[in-house]
Amino acid sequence: MKLMIINGPNLNLLGKREPEVYGNTTFEDYFKQLQKKFPNVELEYYQSNIEGELIGKIQEVGFDYDGIILNAAAYTHTSVGIGDAVKAVETPVIEVHISNTHQREEYRHVSYISPGAKGVILGFGLQSYDLAIQSFLG
Ligand code: DQA
Repeated sequence: MKLMIINGPNLNLLGKREPEVYGNTTFEDYFKQLQKKFPNVELEYYQSNIEGELIGKIQEVGFDYDGIILNAAAYTHTSVGIGDAVKAVETPVIEVHISNTHQREEYRHVSYISPGAKGVILGFGLQSYDLAIQSFLG
């Protein structure tokens, strides 16, 4: 089982960024915990602040890996291009968010990713990623 976690803009600042919303843990630390918890899963992690690079990574792994766990962050609410990439690839994509975007500003209630996603997990903090991995192990 080969899974790719893809994180979008500003998620490189997890741990420092609005800790009241996103917590105090860096993604690198959390990723190590995930690797320990799921030793039988080949887990990889990619982060970019650049829309085209995120599209490139989805295309690169999207015909090969068993699953993509995608937190497109702010691009979730704006990017037709990332939404199209999710629909274009064969690998199933689970959309995740750390916060419950539906409890937040109205512009965060729209997702261009959801129509192409296999499922959506949001609002469980970093545990959203853990639950997404478990969904692939089903
Ligand atoms: C986020 C929610 C988005 O609205 C926001 O722009 C982010 C993070 C989340 O994980 O809660 O950067 O995707």
